Amino acid sequence: MKSAVRQSEIGELVRSGLSRKAKALPPWLFYDTAGTELFERITQLDAYYLTRKERQILLQHSGAIVDVCVPGTQWQVFELGAGSARKTAHLLRAALERQRIVEYHPLDISLDAMLNAVEYLAQELPEVKVCPEVTDYTQSQPRPLASDAGGCKALLWMGSSLGNYEQAEAVAVLRRASAHFRTGDILLLGVDLHPSEGSKQKQDLIVAYDDPEGVTAAFNRNLLLRLNRELGADFRPDQFAHRADWNEASGRMEMHLVSRIFQQVHVAELEQTFVFQAGESIHTESSYKLTVQQVQELLQQAGFPFVSVWMDPQRWFGVFLGRRSSPAAADLSSTQR
Ligand code: AVJ
Repeated sequence: MKSAVRQSEIGELVRSGLSRKAKALPPWLFYDTAGTELFERITQLDAYYLTRKERQILLQHSGAIVDVCVPGTQWQVFELGAGSARKTAHLLRAALERQRIVEYHPLDISLDAMLNAVEYLAQELPEVKVCPEVTDYTQSQPRPLASDAGGCKALLWMGSSLGNYEQAEAVAVLRRASAHFRTGDILLLGVDLHPSEGSKQKQDLIVAYDDPEGVTAAFNRNLLLRLNRELGADFRPDQFAHRADWNEASGRMEMHLVSRIFQQVHVAELEQTFVFQAGESIHTESSYKLTVQQVQELLQQAGFPFVSVWMDPQRWFGVFLGRRSSPAAADLSSTQR
């Protein structure tokens, strides 16, 4: 396994992100070793309902999900942003119970998450052949397989990770990752639903992204510690407030780091100083919340027309399944959110 992102790339991203009028940094920068650990802790918080809801849905419906695949003895599962792979284990187990030979290809930008996943699966599901890849999956596509005969392929993008992307970008990621998929193969998306779909309140969203224990705040600020370490920056994380906003017009949660004071931050690696006004923010993440209809459109555009959705009773979260009809099914028109 190789490391996914070069230091110079991060430098360039930070230079351009902090030079903009509205400062912003890409959310995948969160996931260094400490950030990956903090995210694991977030997924265990009461406030962060996303993981809990998705786990419940998968626990209950894994059998039905696996049964949608064309019958066959092989199952090849590719997962974008697999993380520690805990929830996916339910699905893999259901496939094994149906006598499938299961090959699991977790992709993640975090080496730490991949090592964790490999160790866990070797313990829990030794029958699964695990082929991990540390990669920025927005850029690369899973390697085509040598043993590609028969069986069903499934592409998984769970945990509402697609929420970090604009619709057109999400479609592009899915198309690239599924370029070697065939008719009958499936796409499974875990999606945090727009509040208009169920009983979710704005306050539920705010608490999920600004938890009382402050884990999400630490996760957000850890980004600054990473830049200090990797780019020789001199951010003082305590001089930036964590802020989580619901952006109603765009249908997304936003995380910001808001400068508490007027300050200057020097980044040695870039030989550059950035000025922050008091109250000025760095937009560190968008998490789109989608309507059922938006997800159905997205599936269509990705070339996997909608087949089924499983939701929790309160309709906060949905696991959506699409099936590739034919390669030509991908709607090639450009998409705008
Ligand atoms: C992993 C991108 C789905 O947007 O909810 C958790 C990351 N950010 N708490 C999300 C996250 C703040 C998470 N995703």
